[in-house]
Amino acid sequence: MNVTQLVEDMDQYLNYVGGPVGAIALTGVAAFSAYYLASRPLPEKPLVPLHNQSTLLPGPEIVRVSKFYRESKEGKFISYITEDTQTLYETFRRGAKISNSGPCLGWREQPSKPYQWMHYNETLLRARNFGSGLVALGLPPGPQTFIGIYSQNCPEWILVEQGAYCYSMVIVPLYDTLGPDACAYIVQQAEISVVVCEDDAKCNLLIEKAPRCLRKLITIKEIRPATNQRAKNRGIEILYFEDIEKNGAVKNHPEVPPQPSDLCTICYTSGTTGNPKGVMLTHKNVVAGVCAVLLQLGEHKPNTTDVMVSFLPLAHMLERCCENGMYLVGGAVGFYSGDIRRLSDDMKALRPTVTPAVPRLLNRMYDKVNNEIGSSFIKRVLLNMALSAKENEIKRGIIRKNSFWDKLIFRKVQEGMGGRLRLMVVGSAPLAGNVLTFARCALGCLIVEGYGQTECCAPVTLTVQGDFVPEHVGPPVACCCVKLVDVPEMEYFAASNQGEVCVKGTNVFQGYYKEADATSQTIDEDGWHHTGDIGQWLPNGTLKIIDRKKHIFKLSQGEYIVPEKIESIYCRSQYVHQVFVHGESLKSCIVAIVVPEVDVIKCWALENKIPGTLSILCANPEVKKLIMDDMISWGKEGGLKSFEQVKDLYLHPDPFSIQNGLLTPTFKSKRPTLRAYFKPQIEDMYVKLE
Ligand SMILES: *[C@@H]1O[C@H](CO)[C@@H](O)[C@H](O)[C@H]1NC(C)=O
Ligand SMILES: *[C@@H]1O[C@H](CO)[C@@H](O)[C@H](O)[C@H]1NC(C)=O
Ligand SMILES: *[C@@H]1O[C@H](CO)[C@@H](O)[C@H](O)[C@H]1NC(C)=O
Ligand SMILES: *[C@@H]1O[C@H](CO)[C@@H](O)[C@H](O)[C@H]1NC(C)=O
Repeated sequence: MNVTQLVEDMDQYLNYVGGPVGAIALTGVAAFSAYYLASRPLPEKPLVPLHNQSTLLPGPEIVRVSKFYRESKEGKFISYITEDTQTLYETFRRGAKISNSGPCLGWREQPSKPYQWMHYNETLLRARNFGSGLVALGLPPGPQTFIGIYSQNCPEWILVEQGAYCYSMVIVPLYDTLGPDACAYIVQQAEISVVVCEDDAKCNLLIEKAPRCLRKLITIKEIRPATNQRAKNRGIEILYFEDIEKNGAVKNHPEVPPQPSDLCTICYTSGTTGNPKGVMLTHKNVVAGVCAVLLQLGEHKPNTTDVMVSFLPLAHMLERCCENGMYLVGGAVGFYSGDIRRLSDDMKALRPTVTPAVPRLLNRMYDKVNNEIGSSFIKRVLLNMALSAKENEIKRGIIRKNSFWDKLIFRKVQEGMGGRLRLMVVGSAPLAGNVLTFARCALGCLIVEGYGQTECCAPVTLTVQGDFVPEHVGPPVACCCVKLVDVPEMEYFAASNQGEVCVKGTNVFQGYYKEADATSQTIDEDGWHHTGDIGQWLPNGTLKIIDRKKHIFKLSQGEYIVPEKIESIYCRSQYVHQVFVHGESLKSCIVAIVVPEVDVIKCWALENKIPGTLSILCANPEVKKLIMDDMISWGKEGGLKSFEQVKDLYLHPDPFSIQNGLLTPTFKSKRPTLRAYFKPQIEDMYVKLE
């Protein structure tokens, strides 16, 4: 009896017996067969020695480069793989050619319907028609023309992107999480006159705050007559996507393909201070990033037979790069139906082989499996056996999803993602090591984790196939080099392999649009982009991200203060809901604005028979002393030096929020705004302290 047969029989048996009882009876057999199966598949050899994954450049500084590109050693970086594909216009045409105009963009009209596909040639034709239609609207071809796009992922998104490239135009994505004000700010700053909009709701959001430069909206879906009227009242014309296409086909303007050095996109990112900043990326930047990642994936790199699922926002460069990588290799991209709760349904219908992912998705999967196991001892034992068997395989370089344990334990998880996944690229946020290892075991596919930034068009480092150790982000990719720079105030030093991550290479952006100061603050004279992330080199040449560069200032006696560190310690106090620590170089001590935890303070007040609302309690010296004493003792426990402890505080009853402008959309303190808002209270405290 062959092995597959054995497994299938067992499977059927388990289905027949059902539940844990059958499983117990089988554990002995299971252990044997797992051993038997595990000894069969051939392990893969990693493409670089795992104990030495990057190359150190000669010179006084510690600068590391990829081992995947021979010329990296001479300080050169990859820009493209073949001479004739140096722009995103050319990469798409290469995909069309090598796939022989295979399936390109997939979608489904309704949740119950199967996916339908637009082939490469049709995509190219429609994109060109759309682009020609933009020219017919009076938009001049060339990289000075910016097209806004405000839509969820869908085939039209790609038609707009490729249509714009046919005439060297630049794509500026707008996205929901920025909020309507930020969208209006972007339209204004980039002086965008035409935005492609998904639907009625998004048209309305834009019309609401439309800056004067906005002249035309091109809507993909039907809109209500009332919306049309509102737009007209503001001097904006609404056109239909398909009409632009039709008109473009008639006018048939000759293409004006872009140069590698032309901008392809301005990708706005929201920072912790002020307005979003427009990251200017050229075709060369993006092609370099995409090619470097493809190179590093070796034989695992996608090809014409692969299908990627598209659900992460196209407004982010991680998704843009993954999709453009798929188009370069002639693969297919299927779009989810737009509702993240139905992603699993879409995946079952699409059966993708490749997916980008964010840690949140894997965390959810991890929690879900653990919840299903619940308190069942037997299930837990089986899961642990399965995990340890699979982890042993992964350590030996074996990636598969056909072992006994896959069939017994992990099949449901795998089928939830369509059952055919072979490559997952995770990025955009730190991923916990236990979750990554779990995902590698459970999904049985290659999972690589990257570190990147929009400013580097996405990838900076990426883990290599065969490295099973989590909690690092791999060596630099072949389009850039990485060094760490001293951050003395946080006690990180390059000499001890720790410091701010700095990147130089073909993927590094051209600057922030119309923000010369911000640009020169991040890209130095030698072309190094300072990321603001703190990294550490591991002995095997991989990078680990360990911290984020903080706001820092010096007090008059010369001591450094890291307010965020102090705030995080004070937040451990049960009385503290939010805290903002402030200091100035002309003062010798720091002060704080504290929003008390309302329930705890009210409880305490009740017990101590102190009447009043939170506002009244905030003005009560006893309450202030209670909170301050508690904060100071938490500070001592947290290792704060005496100059790092606040000398006074002001109690404020209203929380900092996004609505009142004191927090960013990602719930971080807007420090300059807080400083300005509480200026009178801060001055008052310093007067009393002197
Ligand atoms: C790592 O590899 C480089 C060449 O890629 C070599 O020069 C270097 O000596 C190696 N380092 C170690 C510690 O093996
Ligand atoms: C796709 O278009 C190209 C260029 O027009 C043409 O050479 C090729 O034959 C087309 N392929 C298919 C399968 O239609
Ligand atoms: C595509 O990649 C898969 C997985 O690496 C491989 O099995 C397959 O042979 C490749 N197909 C082509 C046409 O290269
Ligand atoms: C890389 O180095 C780290 C730290 O020394 C070590 O824990 C890890 O096992 C190494 N990874 C591999 C794949 O050898």
